[in-house]
Amino acid sequence: MVSVTVIGSGYTGGELLRYLMGHEKVNEITLVTNTFAGKGLAEVAPKLAKVSGKKFTATGKNVFNDVVFTATPHGKAMSLAQDILDAGSLLVDLSADFRLTAPEFTKWYGLKHACPALLETAVYGLPELFRDKIKKAKIIANPGCYPTSTLLLLYPLVKDKIIQSNTIMVNSCSGTSGAGLKMERAYLHAEMHDNMCHYALACHRHTPEMRRALKLATGKEFKLSFTPTLVPLSRGMLTSAKAQAKEADPLKVFKRHYSREPFIRIVQNPEVKNVNYTNFCDLTGIYDNECGLAVMVSAIDNLGKGAAGQAVQNMNLIKGFKETEGLLAV
Ligand SMILES: NC(=O)c1ccc[n+]([C@@H]2O[C@H](COP(=O)([O-])OP(=O)(O)OC[C@H]3O[C@@H](n4cnc5c(N)ncnc54)[C@H](OP(=O)(O)O)[C@@H]3O)[C@@H](O)[C@H]2O)c1
Repeated sequence: MVSVTVIGSGYTGGELLRYLMGHEKVNEITLVTNTFAGKGLAEVAPKLAKVSGKKFTATGKNVFNDVVFTATPHGKAMSLAQDILDAGSLLVDLSADFRLTAPEFTKWYGLKHACPALLETAVYGLPELFRDKIKKAKIIANPGCYPTSTLLLLYPLVKDKIIQSNTIMVNSCSGTSGAGLKMERAYLHAEMHDNMCHYALACHRHTPEMRRALKLATGKEFKLSFTPTLVPLSRGMLTSAKAQAKEADPLKVFKRHYSREPFIRIVQNPEVKNVNYTNFCDLTGIYDNECGLAVMVSAIDNLGKGAAGQAVQNMNLIKGFKETEGLLAV
């Protein structure tokens, strides 16, 4: 059994509470929060009140239990990391603090990295690509939602040398919870309802993260042209990727790589409604003969496999629990 700490009560922090409340190996949950310090579960997350008998505390002070999930804006986890490790805790960071090299982090996030030595020990927490390394990690850099949905599509075809061009085109549609709990005009209901828009064209912060993870996993360097699109959904992410490729059936390649993966489903047509509130990634793919392109599509819940679900999956691997523990309830 483990005790866990969740730092941050925003969208991913809330989703962590939902998964952890149903986790049989978790006996105690501490939420470190500015907004809800001193409040009970019925006020913090009314939907979760009385769903389990686990001990729950919300506090304004840092408490580091066996596992600490940082569900906070970038900059926070790296300021706490050494103290978390000194307390003997495992750190699973949902922010970008441990996903890039120190110079890349400064370039894309505008902050000097607070602990570059620890950064080198962090493991990128995408189990389907890095499971063995994850099992030995003390710091997990939990992947971003766009990189998760993209890397799971690209990895098998890159690994098998089916993608030939070194430039890959990716478009990803995201619900607005992907931007976190912030009061900004663009995310107001009246602005986003009945609307769609691209943003951060060819300059999204997740692009270097995808390039780096793909290189770590396959040894190959790729250019990625990434187009994110904001769509009027509260959650869910649909990603498509296209690249010049050798003639091959992507479905067969996915099956070869993922047949034993508990959270990958190969389907005819991925849809966000089938993955929301789950840790699944649904995938499909086809070879476009006319253009010589591999065309691939994935669907995930940005708050599930794209954040909190994957973070719990990483904890399960490191603590030796069943990988699916706490993650299969729908
Ligand atoms: N949303 C997604 O789909 C998604 C997916 C993958 C990764 N991520 C990453 O996960 C992290 C958390 O994302 P989120 O969507 O949960 O964010 P969020 O909804 O904005 O919540 C962040 C929470 O962190 C706490 N916090 C502590 N210090 C803060 C500060 N200086 N400024 C603002 N909040 C502070 C706040 O909780 P208290 O008031 O309780 O202290 C806040 O509600 C981010 O780094 C994000 O990039 C998000």
